[in-house]
Amino acid sequence: MTKLAEDSRQDQPRAARIDGKAFADKLRAEVAVDASRFAQEHGRQPGLAVVLVGDDPASQVYVRTKMRQAAEVGIASFPHLLGADASEAELLALIDSLNRDDRVDAILVQLPLPASINEKVVIEAIDPAKDVDGFHPYNVGRLSGGRAALVPCTPLGCLLLLQDRLGDLSGLKAVVVGRSNIVGRPMAQLLLNADCTVTTVHSRSRNLAEECRQADILVVAVGRPGMIGAEHIKPGATVLDVGINRIEAAEGQGQLVGDVDFAAASAVAGALTPVPGGIGPMTVACLLRNTLTAARQRVQQPQG
Ligand code: GUN
Repeated sequence: MTKLAEDSRQDQPRAARIDGKAFADKLRAEVAVDASRFAQEHGRQPGLAVVLVGDDPASQVYVRTKMRQAAEVGIASFPHLLGADASEAELLALIDSLNRDDRVDAILVQLPLPASINEKVVIEAIDPAKDVDGFHPYNVGRLSGGRAALVPCTPLGCLLLLQDRLGDLSGLKAVVVGRSNIVGRPMAQLLLNADCTVTTVHSRSRNLAEECRQADILVVAVGRPGMIGAEHIKPGATVLDVGINRIEAAEGQGQLVGDVDFAAASAVAGALTPVPGGIGPMTVACLLRNTLTAARQRVQQPQG
């Protein structure tokens, strides 16, 4: 690069890097204090059951991380690892027993499930009071009515980071790219509940870049490496990249990248989350926080 090009590049504004890992560390420390208080008051640790069906390597890594971090903050974890050939009936029987188990406050079934198992049926079998992911229609309905308790972990992590950075979100224009049940839809609801003006765009949307450029807050959760570039971003916007994509890098090494082209976006955005180290750690921290929320609610309103 010539000196001139280098100078002009240095003159470009660089987005602040939003450190999701540091924020998640702080959140986990708070959960550890709450978990210890819960254990003193109730004579047992809060309990999280984690169910994994099959041998998807990425899911195995996520589940191990969730259980390790649960142990670190004083949450008892109950792992259930089923083979890829497990039947829907077997999984439903397991969920039924976890629903009845008083040591278990929260149930997480890692998605995606094998194609032979109906995800919707499984999610609806989880006791809504133990639905730590907030995926059960009861909790989805509460979120859309603005009365949520258990909110999907990734969008909750995004909201906490946004509030930490921007304070009151009221009146800001938010654009959510992606409409999945796990991220896009609940994210839009949470932003609406925070008084943002919200637009959701997706694969059938027209004028994607133009829509995105209106956003003070841009949340991207699609699963397409680098799909969002400088032309999608309003100068100064806060951009959260939820994508975690493994791509082939030099010498056959795998590399994790987001849905946002980090280098291009950081020349335009005001603040931006990296991948890794942005939203990913927040998801697990929010899972632990939701486990405490479920545990407290259950002791206040004992089941059965
Ligand atoms: N798979 C990818 N993200 C999630 C999540 O937040 N919860 C569950 N249960 N499965 C997932």
